[in-house]
Amino acid sequence: MIDFLLASVHHLIVFGIASVLAAEIALMRPAAMSPHTVRLLGRFDAVYGGLAMAILVVGFARVWFGAKGPDFYLHNPVFWAKIGAFLVVGLVSIRPTLRMLAWQKRLKLDAAFMPPAQEIAALRRQLLLEIHVFALIPVLAAAMARGIGY
Ligand code: HEM
Repeated sequence: MIDFLLASVHHLIVFGIASVLAAEIALMRPAAMSPHTVRLLGRFDAVYGGLAMAILVVGFARVWFGAKGPDFYLHNPVFWAKIGAFLVVGLVSIRPTLRMLAWQKRLKLDAAFMPPAQEIAALRRQLLLEIHVFALIPVLAAAMARGIGY
């Protein structure tokens, strides 16, 4: 039962992260930008951060309390490749998050604030990189779950 519950929540969080990231990419375009979009991006990114923390907790709960037990994962390089890909996504997300936080501050001082087009384009490229690395994670997960690499 615990394994089933953790697996269900794990999947829901994964879909949540993918949706929020896709929404951020859709909004992060010079043509789509407005003060309202800046505010929305700030909210989406806060949700993204919360979901990233949640997948970390639920993911490691699956390692320790899941049906297969920690040895099944911790001795498998594919598991560590999955964690590595997750870390890369986290590292790439630092700059967009910091910039979006800075935008919220600017917006409080100036209600008509609009980020420069060049910066929007640069952050969009980083979000695209994030989603591509993110897409590798389910592939590694499927391999790991089937004992490939163990
Ligand atoms: C630190 C974060 C994470 C940890 C520790 C973790 C751990 C796990 C564990 C232990 C399983 C169970 C595999 C099994 O059934 O034997 C699993 C499955 C899975 N994980 Fe994660 N996970 C994490 C993050 C993610 C992320 C970010 C994604 C998606 C991008 C993801 C996608 C999946 C998928 C799709 C499965 C099901 C694989 C299958 O049954 O074929 N995980 N994960």
